[in-house]
Amino acid sequence: MSNLNRLRQAMEQASIPALLVTDNVNLRWLTGFTGSSGIALVTQNHAGFVTDARYDLWSRSEVTDHEITIYQRPRTLDDLIAEVSTKFQSKEIAFEGSISYSAWKARTEKLSDFTWIESPDLIRDLRKIKTVDEINRIRAACKLADACIENITRMIQPGITEYDISLDIEFFYRRNGAEIAFDPIVASGPNSARPHATPSERKLEVGDFVTIDCGGKLDGYCSDITRTFVVGKASDRHVEIYNQVLKSEIACCAALKSGANGKEIDALAREILDEIDLNQYFTHGLGHGLGLDVHDPGGLSSTVDQPIEPGMVFTVEPGVYIEGFGGLRIEDDVLVTDSEPEILTLFPKELMIL
Ligand code: GLY
Ligand code: MN
Repeated sequence: MSNLNRLRQAMEQASIPALLVTDNVNLRWLTGFTGSSGIALVTQNHAGFVTDARYDLWSRSEVTDHEITIYQRPRTLDDLIAEVSTKFQSKEIAFEGSISYSAWKARTEKLSDFTWIESPDLIRDLRKIKTVDEINRIRAACKLADACIENITRMIQPGITEYDISLDIEFFYRRNGAEIAFDPIVASGPNSARPHATPSERKLEVGDFVTIDCGGKLDGYCSDITRTFVVGKASDRHVEIYNQVLKSEIACCAALKSGANGKEIDALAREILDEIDLNQYFTHGLGHGLGLDVHDPGGLSSTVDQPIEPGMVFTVEPGVYIEGFGGLRIEDDVLVTDSEPEILTLFPKELMIL
């Protein structure tokens, strides 16, 4: 079923006669449009896509199942929304809650003939279950992430700065036709105790943990991988902590089966870390959905009470962060299937001393 028809089905179930899609990522999911400015208006009988003249040719090559309307100054997007809406049988339009307050205020004042209602997160909910095409794109992005980590291991040695490593990561993704899915994290020594550190001019030293967290966005879809290495020589404490995080990560990847629950898998990660009193240092959720956004809808955490279904893709990323000592995280991207979970990032994850 096309994404448009999946949306129509969800709209019917939620009793939404007309939906205005303004979120750019949702718009891409719905229409295939990769540009940066446009909206869609969907009812059971009509699907309209409106963009400005910069995206005339562009949208015609990408948007196939929506009627395209192009506007140019002095006409505005709101003029076009009013025009396209005349094709609706309803005066009620649902809008996405992610619109800014000022944009919402201006639009509802200008288009005051309509009744505006806030839509539930219909498209974000649908995005949790990936199509075969989406899975293939995520798979390709994950393959590139593996290659990036492989490429970067040759740089890890005492004296090199975190910043230089991060530049090489960016270059690698871009040179291979991708964007970076997010600013790479390269965190060494004491900095590795910060889950989200910004790469600094700190030079790697023997005995550091160095955590590398990066991902590429290839053909619109993201990967997200983290590997932690030790520079030169590992202490017993490095090995002990690393292996416990690894044990937790492996168990949670294996637990990502249809019918499981994100909350329970997060709890499993903590239970394993706590075998050696490490849960106190695990300060974030276990994972998140992955897709068009690096933090796609869906998650594995104590606050997400949601059953896991085939077609969902999650990151699994337990970590421990100990102030003054350092920290580590191990992260893979995992596809939920009808049977065993499929781990999409395949770079080895046993402790590597480089
Ligand atoms: N890999 C970065 C994050 O998940 O926040
Ligand atoms: Mn992540």
